[in-house]
Amino acid sequence: MRTVTIRAELDKALAQLPRPVALVPTMGALHAGHAALIAAARRTAATVVVSIFVNPRQFANAADVARYPRTLESDQQLAEAAGAHLIFAPSVDEIYPPNEPLTSVEPGPLASRLEGASRPGHFTGVATVVSRLFDLVRPNEAYFGAKDAQQVRVVEWLTAQRTDHIKIHRVATVRDGDGLALSSRNQMLSAAGRAAAARAIPVALSLIAEAYASGVTSVAMLRALAERVLAAEPSLSLDYLDFADGATLVQLSENAQIGDAAPGEVLVSLAAVVDGVRLIDAITLP
Ligand code: PAF
Repeated sequence: MRTVTIRAELDKALAQLPRPVALVPTMGALHAGHAALIAAARRTAATVVVSIFVNPRQFANAADVARYPRTLESDQQLAEAAGAHLIFAPSVDEIYPPNEPLTSVEPGPLASRLEGASRPGHFTGVATVVSRLFDLVRPNEAYFGAKDAQQVRVVEWLTAQRTDHIKIHRVATVRDGDGLALSSRNQMLSAAGRAAAARAIPVALSLIAEAYASGVTSVAMLRALAERVLAAEPSLSLDYLDFADGATLVQLSENAQIGDAAPGEVLVSLAAVVDGVRLIDAITLP
C-alpha cells in the first residue's frame, strides 16, 4: 500500500492500479468502522483508495478543525491491514488550490434539516469536498457509513446530479462493546462523558427499535421512551431526536403511526453534545 499526497502522484498511482476503483472518503483517525468500509470495498473493487483529509469547509470554525484528531501513521497501518491499496492524504492547498476559484457545490434539498439545520454550511462543505475527491480519484464506487445517515442521502443526491455514475454503498454502523457507535470524535470524550453517552444514545435507539419490533408504532410513544433515557444523563444535551422518511428525510409528525406515514424505511436520527463533542447516531425502522 502506498500513500500519496499530491494530485500528480495520485494520477500516476491510479494509472498503475486496476479498475474498478472504490473510494473510501475519510477524515482520518481511522477505527474499526472505517476498516469495515475498506473491507466492504475490497469485496467489490479491484482497487481501494482511502482518502484522508480533514476538510476545513465542513466545520463551523477553525478551532474545531484544529482539534480534530490527526493520526496518519496508525491510519496507514489500519488501512493496509483492512485491505486498502492506496491512501490519498492531501493538504488543504492540494484540495483547494489557492490559485483556483473557490467554488462550492450545492448539497441539495436533503441537506436542509437535521445536521444541515444545526450546522449551517456543513453539507455544502461535505458536497464540495466529496465532489472534488470524486473528480480527482474518479472512482467507480464509494463507501460511506450508515451512522452518518443524512450524509449518505446527500451524497446519493449529489451523485445523481453527476454524469460519472458512481455507485454509492452504505455500510452498517460498527459499535463498541458498550453500544456507542464508533466515531473518530469519541477520542475527544472524557471517560465520564463517554460512559454517559454510551448509557444514553445507543440505549435510546435500541429502546425505539425494540418497542417498534414489539408493535409500538406511534412516533410520540417511541420518542417518549427514548427521551426518558436521554434526559437521565444531565451531561448530555440533546440537539434532536428525529423520525423521518428514510428516502426523502421529510419529518414524520408526532401523531403519525410508522407504517402509515412513510412507504419505506423510517430513519430515526439523533444528535447530542457531550463534553462539547457533537455525537450523532441513527437507526432505520423497516
Ligand atoms: O464522513 C466523513 O468523514 C466526512 O464527512 C467525509 C465524507 C470524509 C467528507 O469530508
